[in-house]
Amino acid sequence: MKTVVISLGGSILIPELESHRIREYVPVLRAIAEKCQLYVVVGGGGEARRYIEVSRALGIDEGTSDEIGILITRLNATLLIAALGKDAYPVVAETHNEAKKFAESGRIVIMGGITPGQTTDAVAAVLAERVGASVFINATSVDGAYDKDPNKFSDAKRFETLTPAQLLEIVGKTALSAGSNNVLDVIAARIVERSRIPLVVLDGRDPKNLSNAILSGKFVGTIVSESGKNPFPV
Ligand code: UTP
Repeated sequence: MKTVVISLGGSILIPELESHRIREYVPVLRAIAEKCQLYVVVGGGGEARRYIEVSRALGIDEGTSDEIGILITRLNATLLIAALGKDAYPVVAETHNEAKKFAESGRIVIMGGITPGQTTDAVAAVLAERVGASVFINATSVDGAYDKDPNKFSDAKRFETLTPAQLLEIVGKTALSAGSNNVLDVIAARIVERSRIPLVVLDGRDPKNLSNAILSGKFVGTIVSESGKNPFPV
């Protein structure tokens, strides 16, 4: 059975607590998990952003603000686990080793953040490497990788394919600070380059995009690999 790692951005799963998309994601993740061993790394979303803003306003350092962000990602992960019921391993994995161990259950394994100075994309990239994933998916709130933030710049250019080196060049231009916004953090981009695992950046605002991609190979997004070949269906 193939292994798939999804970085499920908090900005799409739980943009704000009241407008969460967990109900729509549960059947989609269940359908995917019937075809592969699935790992999902959940982001912090709006709640993490709000906590980090308050933390900064209090003059708290970036590392501690990151720790607060991590707690929120784990809270979001706990909510997703509970919603998935018996289909998910009942505990949030707090290390990559733990995630591998939990996968022996055959259930969906869920993680949040693990260490300051990065985002859940980096957690997911390392996880993909550790578990020998056949594909690493970054489900995010844009329809692919751009040369700059498309929400801020109207002339941002979208890519159908990128090599890992090109991705690294793009993300290298953005500063790393608690709660910072980029298609992928620099650490994640480096791991993608060294692991040679194909990365697909796809629009997760509609949960069906995710299942269509994995199960039938149809998606709108950006493939990041040396070959640029569509890695789906798994
Ligand atoms: P996210 O991974 O959710 O970052 O972690 P994000 O860029 O806000 O992603 P989306 O929008 O949810 O998709 C939230 C914050 O938690 C801290 C960082 O401060 C990050 O910005 N964090 C997360 C860490 O410090 N380490 C981790 O391993 C994960």
